[in-house]
Amino acid sequence: MHGTILTLLKRYVQTQYDHSTWIKLMELSGLEKVEFDHKTVYPDEHVYALIGHAAEMTGLSAGELHEKFGEYLVPDLMYMYQKLLRPEWKTLDMLEHTELTMHKKVRQEHAENAPPVLDVRRLGPDELVIDYVSPRRMSGLAVGIVRGLAAYYDEAERIDVLPTTADNGERVRIHVRRT
Ligand code: HEM
Repeated sequence: MHGTILTLLKRYVQTQYDHSTWIKLMELSGLEKVEFDHKTVYPDEHVYALIGHAAEMTGLSAGELHEKFGEYLVPDLMYMYQKLLRPEWKTLDMLEHTELTMHKKVRQEHAENAPPVLDVRRLGPDELVIDYVSPRRMSGLAVGIVRGLAAYYDEAERIDVLPTTADNGERVRIHVRRT
């Protein structure tokens, strides 16, 4: 997994909980000697271990934590890739263009980067369907990112996100509607 995601996970835990919680999580995950930086690609197992132990500590499910973390990621991701954004885009347009703009760029940046495939079909001006495909089974993160984008574009009250298949699968359909 991209080091940026891990450095943001660290900041998320430090700000939502505290620094000692992060140290504890790293110890429980057997990662006390690892220092994350945004240029390195880390084994996905690091993320699974950290989120798994965080779930045990907080009593939240791994899926819920993925969602919360996904929401938190959005402002930083948008800032980092701001050159690829168009000023006229709102939440649904952004979702429609992620695969062929942001995730495409992420794949080009490093051969080991493997963001999920997002097959997005726009059903109308206010509706679309995302088919998420990834062996990482992190569709909770995708749902959180959609919510984060809605907040970013000041549409949080109007955007409904409905995962329509089990949220722990490799293939998950997410229905997004603007009311
Ligand atoms: C500004 C927009 C976005 C940027 C810059 C971005 C960037 C990234 C990056 C760098 C990764 C790590 C990839 C890796 O380590 O191989 C990633 C993973 C991921 N992205 Fe995006 N992303 C964006 C939007 C989205 C959107 C809109 C969704 C879903 C609706 C999404 C869903 C995910 C998920 C679920 C992962 C976790 C890895 C996986 O499930 O395989 N991303 N993204």
